[in-house]
Amino acid sequence: MTLPNRPSLLLLPGDGIGPEVIAQVRRVAAWMESNAGLDMAIEERPFGGTSYDLHGTPLTDETLNLALNSTAVLMGAVGGPQWVNNPRDKRPEMGLLNLRKAMDAFANLRPALCFEALADASTLKREIVAGLDIMIVRELTSGVYFGEKGIDTNTPTGEKRGYDLQQYTQSEIERVARVAFELARGRRNKVVSAEKSNVMDSGLFWRQVVTALHAAEYPDVELEHMLADNTAMQLVKNPKQFDVIVTDNLFGDILSDEASMLTGSIGLLPSAALSTPGKPGLYEPVHGSAPDIAGKGLANPLAAILSFGMALRWSLGRPDLDETLYAAVKSALAAGVRTGDLGGRNTTAEMGDAVLKALAA
Ligand code: NAD
Ligand code: IPM
Ligand code: MN
Repeated sequence: MTLPNRPSLLLLPGDGIGPEVIAQVRRVAAWMESNAGLDMAIEERPFGGTSYDLHGTPLTDETLNLALNSTAVLMGAVGGPQWVNNPRDKRPEMGLLNLRKAMDAFANLRPALCFEALADASTLKREIVAGLDIMIVRELTSGVYFGEKGIDTNTPTGEKRGYDLQQYTQSEIERVARVAFELARGRRNKVVSAEKSNVMDSGLFWRQVVTALHAAEYPDVELEHMLADNTAMQLVKNPKQFDVIVTDNLFGDILSDEASMLTGSIGLLPSAALSTPGKPGLYEPVHGSAPDIAGKGLANPLAAILSFGMALRWSLGRPDLDETLYAAVKSALAAGVRTGDLGGRNTTAEMGDAVLKALAA
């Protein structure tokens, strides 16, 4: 039986490389339970396509209830070619969107850090990326992802029409911007807010709300508004100009994949989706299920391992162990261990071994 104050972690390995990278997280968690006083109950459930195959739905009510009653949820990845033709509600990705929404996990922190040992692994020049430390704050429970959508066959001309409505309320913008401003205060005190206020009313509204919040509550933080297309360009031109970037759901999705290549690989980028205080956080690597390498033991597990680190910090009350883990990842990379995405030949398990070895050192 779970004691009332004992933290609990729900693992949702999911599809493709998800189970492979979560297997390495399990090893790290076990090491911390045996050696670092980490005390938590761990549960695991199928999720995404794997859950659909077993239960006919990507997210069962039982799994959702368990997630809502956990301290933290750590997801691997969802999706794959075998489920792309599922009806919308049965698609693995819908399970993830429904989970994010139900958990009200609105503030998605996606840090992009360049490890010194990997400054040459990026496709960009070393001097552009060395020392990089950006925090992207992506709004995760609204916007075009959750607006009215459909493929309309009943149009006046008879021509089919696909649509997804982009929309944000004032409070949705304010609460995610607040997270960005608060984070900036503990960092280099600068926020770039990215939108398309030049063409979208929802973007203009986003800019107005962020401007007013800044004036009212965060005048000490430097704020710059940047159009999202320019932000994409500036990220590869001069990424070190950024500290915190706050942006909507869709732009945040795209800008974070772009930012991953500044660090060397998408296999490195963790994320934390935070809700209101006291509610569980949802932790997930930024990468997907990588069907092209799934089942081969080639995936880089560091994004998942670092996502567990973020769970230790933001939900499980052990920021010290996040630091320990971060240092271990740094040593594993400094020792030259490299999965294929980083130009090396090491396997998923060998990367896990290297992290465990560094933890034990
Ligand atoms: P992807 O991130 O799965 O893969 C893009 C490329 O990066 C592939 O070449 C892949 O091999 C590589 N890659 C990704 N993660 C890696 C890792 N840890 N180690 C080494 N290489 C890695 O994106 P995609 O191919 O566009 O999408 C595949 C599926 O994943 C789709 O069904 C998509 O919906 C889903 N997806 C899920 C998530 C998630 O679960 N959070 C995120 C993105 C995409
Ligand atoms: C991500 C993914 C998801 C998203 C998909 C799988 C729903 O790309 O977490 O970045 O678009 O949010
Ligand atoms: Mn994405």
